[in-house]
Amino acid sequence: MSKHTVKTIQEMRNNNDIITMLTAYDYPTAKKINDAGIDMILVGDSCAMVVHGHPNTLTATMEMMVLHCAAVARACDRTMVVADMPFGSFQYSIEDTMKNAARFVTEAKVDAVKFEATHNHIAKTKAVVEMGIACVGHVGLHPQAVGALGGLKAQGRDVASARKVVSEALALQDAGVFAIIFEAVPTKLSDYVTRKLDIPTISIGGGPKCSGQLLVTPDVLGMYDNFTPSFAKQYANVGQVMTDAFTQYAKEVKSGAFPDDTYSYGMSDKVLESVIKEFGPVS
Ligand code: KIV
Repeated sequence: MSKHTVKTIQEMRNNNDIITMLTAYDYPTAKKINDAGIDMILVGDSCAMVVHGHPNTLTATMEMMVLHCAAVARACDRTMVVADMPFGSFQYSIEDTMKNAARFVTEAKVDAVKFEATHNHIAKTKAVVEMGIACVGHVGLHPQAVGALGGLKAQGRDVASARKVVSEALALQDAGVFAIIFEAVPTKLSDYVTRKLDIPTISIGGGPKCSGQLLVTPDVLGMYDNFTPSFAKQYANVGQVMTDAFTQYAKEVKSGAFPDDTYSYGMSDKVLESVIKEFGPVS
């Protein structure tokens, strides 16, 4: 199958074919996701937490993101790759935003960029769309606003917050984004907006009524337990598999069981004899 485009993603939504999306930050994981037939990858700024060990996403930089995005993009011949615009990359000016979005497509070769765009950022989003770069919006919980929100909390549960989610989603659609991520919002709200919009909606903690579903891959694999949102389902315990493998390796190295002949290079006695002749025996 050829690579997903904004057109094929829109067709999936139109045909009620649920879109699958996961995060990835490195080549081998992205390759497995691509080969598993997942439709979209987000190289999220969550990498600041789940890869770099920071307490929140605010420390993700353009340099960090471009590097991770380039590795992921090299692995994907089918899955569409979306770069997350990190904090500070789109908050200052339209010009900065355009330059940073361009870096993702020219240096990292991703297929699209995503913004945690509020009403303040609609003009910037539109400017990037008008450059010809495919854009994804993100409403509901904005982890980059963790300080102002007082934590990573569900959004859209009271009237003001629900209206904000709906009006931002409508404004983003008008600005030309081709899809919108709904993070940590009630199912009734994402269902309402999904039916109101003409473009795909993708849920991460937004319930089952969206056009697609997204999870953070280290949550899916049981590889990150510093913070696990209530909507994150774990599908495997790769973290435990890794711990078991590392423990077994250490045991075998300490006991001398590894490496045995299978994992060592051989050499003829003649070669060793000539070395000893030249350099003398070990005293
Ligand atoms: O950085 C990320 O992984 C994200 C998702 C949580 C939507 O922005």
